Amino acid sequence: MSLLITGGTGYIGSHTVVELFNDNQDVVIVDNLVNSSTNSLDRIEQITGKRPTFIEADICDKAAMRKVFTEHDISAVIHFAGLKAVGESTQIPLSYYHNNVAGTVALLEVMTEFNVKNMVFSSSATVYGESNVSPLVETMPTSATNPYGQTKLMVEHILFDLAKSDPQWSIILLRYFNPIGAHSSGLIGENPNGIPNNLLPFVSQVAVGRLAQLQVYGNDYDTLDGTGVRDYIHVVDLAIAHLKAVSALANLEGCTAINIGTGNGTSVLQIVDKFKEVSGADIPFKISPRRPGDIATVFAEAKLANTLLAWQAERNLDDMIIDTWRWQSQNPNGFE
Ligand code: NAD
Ligand code: UFG
Repeated sequence: MSLLITGGTGYIGSHTVVELFNDNQDVVIVDNLVNSSTNSLDRIEQITGKRPTFIEADICDKAAMRKVFTEHDISAVIHFAGLKAVGESTQIPLSYYHNNVAGTVALLEVMTEFNVKNMVFSSSATVYGESNVSPLVETMPTSATNPYGQTKLMVEHILFDLAKSDPQWSIILLRYFNPIGAHSSGLIGENPNGIPNNLLPFVSQVAVGRLAQLQVYGNDYDTLDGTGVRDYIHVVDLAIAHLKAVSALANLEGCTAINIGTGNGTSVLQIVDKFKEVSGADIPFKISPRRPGDIATVFAEAKLANTLLAWQAERNLDDMIIDTWRWQSQNPNGFE
């Protein structure tokens, strides 16, 4: 039996495949390479000595997906595939609804045809919206403020409804907080196209000299130093959470949402200071206006993951920044 990993050549998917291989599981990756390349497969092989089975296909293409399920004995799906840039989602919302929502429905229909009814889905802390106060708890009301967030919320609703309609389904929604870091080998890491939107890839490209200056979006929030506070989580801890979630599927009925964070908040300026200390590089920055849609403080209550998955974050902020820097300094232009 194999696990189907959609989006498995991407940032979180490639780290999860490494952890699954370390656990001796078989995987089949499906990815259309819209935001990744097959270079990550070479690197996974370098790290683990094993090359994943890879099929270049779009999850929206039901014929291609049927072929995957016909040719491989799939026990469960870890569903990473999707578009993820919040700003871009406001410019091309239809692409986001097509890929993330229609694509997931197509995948679920094919899974149903083949009677594969186990899924771990990549959700996001973005579903907590703007009004809830951290620590964010799984039982809080959800909402979305942009098309990307809407797609995550819509898929959550679809998966809750599906599990309610048919008790054979077992689904875990992992609500990721802010994944950062890289594998300790420095061989795989985050490789954004163009100018990064997220803090860590931006800071590391400033540190390596690819970008001139960081803009800190606002220093007048009600936080310890006025800059935004987030719950950064090491991507390898996040990958291990998927491993644990797959084994928990057998014991959990229906659809369950679980936060994946550390429970700790770190400000933008604390990240900049830590990055300077670790890299020895200068990180010039200027204070800019707040970024529309940002909120002051986001961090998880992380207890449910411990109770249901026997998982907790093991890597601290030093590990996250050291590993980010190793990846960035060894691969200043990403995989290229
Ligand atoms: P990523 O872009 O590196 O990986 C996503 C992968 O999916 C890419 O390799 C891309 O080529 C592939 N893909 C996209 N659309 C596809 C389609 N229609 N068919 C087949 N493959 C397709 O992103 P990531 O950071 O690894 O994120 C993985 C998942 O986690 C995404 O669903 C994302 O929304 C979610 N998530 C990410 C974060 C984050 O900050 N990185 C936070 C919360 C949730
Ligand atoms: N920030 C800057 N300068 C930058 C980039 C970010 O100051 O160049 C600040 C932001 O204002 C925020 C913090 O750094 O305070 C983190 O910003 P990110 O863009 O890295 O992350 P967000 O928390 O805004 O967004 C992330 C994911 C989204 C997801 C959201 C869920 O990127 O996909 O978490 O909470 F929806």
